Amino acid sequence: MKTDTAYGREARSEKPQSVTTLAEMKRKGEKITCLTGYDASFSALLDRAGVDVILVGDSLGMVIQGYGSTLAVTMDQMVYHTRCVVRGRQRAFVIADLPFMSYPEPNRAAENAARLLREGEAQMVKLEGGRIRAETVRHLVAQGIPVCGHLGLLPQSVHQIGGYRVQGKDQQAAETMLEDARILQDAGATLLVLECVPASLAKKITESLAIPTIGIGAGVDCDGQVLVLYDLLDITPGKRPKFSKNFMAETGDAVSAVRAFVDEVRKGRFPTEEQSF
Ligand code: KIV
Repeated sequence: MKTDTAYGREARSEKPQSVTTLAEMKRKGEKITCLTGYDASFSALLDRAGVDVILVGDSLGMVIQGYGSTLAVTMDQMVYHTRCVVRGRQRAFVIADLPFMSYPEPNRAAENAARLLREGEAQMVKLEGGRIRAETVRHLVAQGIPVCGHLGLLPQSVHQIGGYRVQGKDQQAAETMLEDARILQDAGATLLVLECVPASLAKKITESLAIPTIGIGAGVDCDGQVLVLYDLLDITPGKRPKFSKNFMAETGDAVSAVRAFVDEVRKGRFPTEEQSF
């Protein structure tokens, strides 16, 4: 592959990840590895370590900007960080979050998603929510914009749900989430993030969908795993979430820590019950 990025690195020959290769991984039962990234240097590091997908998450509001939630993140900031990440990587697929209130209805969503693809050069956008987003997902997909759904704990709704806690614990909530997952898939979503969901429910959702699920605090049976990079490197201030793991403890440097994450996810060794609900 040609490398003419401003970041200027050696040419590499691996096939870049795409919606097609990610779908193929689910079919073959190969686990998808995903980490958040916010800048070109870490993006290049994740890429070299074999991470399949880099998520430019609006978690940047917390780990880059120091807020207590993701709500302050703007479209301009998402475009800026997405562009930085895209310049750093060669093989990894890049997903960018649509931030809080950037997709209240389908047309606004399409304008903002188009910015993430056109100006940020993302390959997919992610938005939070279930059936209420179906029309928006359909509209984006009709414009040629690939969409990743996000169910379970929805950080952009933190004030509505009263804190960062596990979702889908009772039977009614679990059934609703399973239906929401199917509705998002039917609307055209290509991937689905499941955050802080009981492992048994995430397994059921994963088995009932043709599209890959990417779990964070959702057990080992999802088709892939995502973590906030700074949690994995143990540099996020405060208490590390239960679903995360300090990969630096066993490895001692950032590249080895990311490689250990990739290796453990691929072998189905991460997450364990300790990091699941
Ligand atoms: O913003 C983010 O980092 C995310 C992940 C936690 C999935 O949405």
